[in-house]
Amino acid sequence: MYTEAVMDHFFNPRNAGELADADGVGEAGNPVCGDIMRIYLKIEDDKIVDIKFKTFGCGAAIATSSILTELVKGKSIAEAEKITNRAVAEALGGLPPQKMHCSNLAADAFHKALAAYRQNQSKSAPAVG
Ligand code: FES
Repeated sequence: MYTEAVMDHFFNPRNAGELADADGVGEAGNPVCGDIMRIYLKIEDDKIVDIKFKTFGCGAAIATSSILTELVKGKSIAEAEKITNRAVAEALGGLPPQKMHCSNLAADAFHKALAAYRQNQSKSAPAVG
């Protein structure tokens, strides 16, 4: 029922953990199943130089977190923010229909982490004038 890629990322998750000095943190949860995912970003010169995730969830949620980190690491923000739920699922060779919602968590948490980064940036920007 799961592709080999899903099983691989579930058993050997990439970039699991957290970044103590993250520039942006995003969290997404699924109220139906109760699963929750947190994404930590380190950004330098508009580039995602590091990313980690912590996911309390099903195998598909863990696999989608893991593949998402691989898809966006090293990319520019402009490139990485184009990532969609569908792209995450496709990178895993697809997910069973009843598990498609699990891929939403990864993309949503990532976009929230980017939004948090932007918010932090605007707060720490030097006052103009
Ligand atoms: Fe909840 Fe997969 S069942 S994210």
